[in-house]
Amino acid sequence: MGEQKDLPFPYETKELDPEEEELINVNLGTFPTSYVKLGPKGYMVLKPYMKDAANIYNMPLRPTDVFVASYQRSGTTWTQELVWLVANDLNYEKAAEIPLVQRYPFLDGFMFFEPEKKELYADIISETADENFDREKYIQMMEFLGQPVSPLLAAAPLTQKRFIKTHLPMSLMPPTLLDTAKVVYVARDPRDVAVSCYHHARLFKLMGPLNGFKNFWEIFYRGLFTLTPYFEHVKEAWEQRHSPNMLFLFYEELSKDLPASINRVADFLGKKLNEEEMSRLCDHLSIENFKNNKSVNFEEMREIGVLAKGETFIRKGKSGGWRDYFDEEMTQQAERWIEENLKDTDLRFPTMK
Ligand code: A3P
Repeated sequence: MGEQKDLPFPYETKELDPEEEELINVNLGTFPTSYVKLGPKGYMVLKPYMKDAANIYNMPLRPTDVFVASYQRSGTTWTQELVWLVANDLNYEKAAEIPLVQRYPFLDGFMFFEPEKKELYADIISETADENFDREKYIQMMEFLGQPVSPLLAAAPLTQKRFIKTHLPMSLMPPTLLDTAKVVYVARDPRDVAVSCYHHARLFKLMGPLNGFKNFWEIFYRGLFTLTPYFEHVKEAWEQRHSPNMLFLFYEELSKDLPASINRVADFLGKKLNEEEMSRLCDHLSIENFKNNKSVNFEEMREIGVLAKGETFIRKGKSGGWRDYFDEEMTQQAERWIEENLKDTDLRFPTMK
């Protein structure tokens, strides 16, 4: 067991500058929960994060734990389903029966919702809600999602293998994480991540109408969006990629050669798939099947009327779609930003070699 002493939480928080605050207010509109910068890298966490930050940093670990970690919209859901199925001997029946969100408690998901502001969230949503908006159910959901899951994880029976989803960077997780548990980290070209985050913010409506992708991009690359600065996040995991308990994947590699990535996951978890099993798993993980897979697609939230029309959680599933969103100025700015951030590291995305 990963017995560990209670470590003091080593990071301090810093309020945003008024200019940054203003930019966020203008571009992320109605989102009622505010950010604070955490630690020396200034990770943008939503303020409720601080109520469980030290518990997460000190969470007791088990050698059977499997974390799927990423910056959001980098292919987490895809990786989660892949990892879970390989680890659970391809138990498709159970995967269909138990929604992915229940199979993987979301370690930091609570920070997006302040239970005290539930009525306010509901008011925002109801402004643009469909006729089927179920305010009561929505409020119940907010109350549930706003609770930290670390106590629930600690209470999981020792016989249960824990699968955990997180968008936290490595430095906010327990320092002994890789001595005990396994981590699969997935990274993606930040330009595609930014586009995907933009659509995701629209899907859940809370961020209001948003002020166009160009303004959203500015927030993202300036390190003013949730859990940015983006490159710090990815580099922290990249630096640990040689640890035997860390598997570092790229979305673009899964896209290009899914069987090769599945084999890497299987090796990492000490499993082996035959040809037939591989072929069925690739089919199961295809974007077309994922769109219709109720266990992973979050579409049940549409039934209570909180998802925006024309947006879906499982979306295009392509690499390089950013080109349709970036004008020449943004393209050059992105190139300079990427170059600047890669100059002190051997991290290279498959799209940037
Ligand atoms: P796009 O918005 O670019 O389509 P996350 O799970 O981390 O939130 O990542 C979501 C991104 O992964 C979305 O990207 C989504 O469409 C994509 N994705 C999800 N399932 C996928 C699959 N089976 N194949 C390819 N991409 C997938």
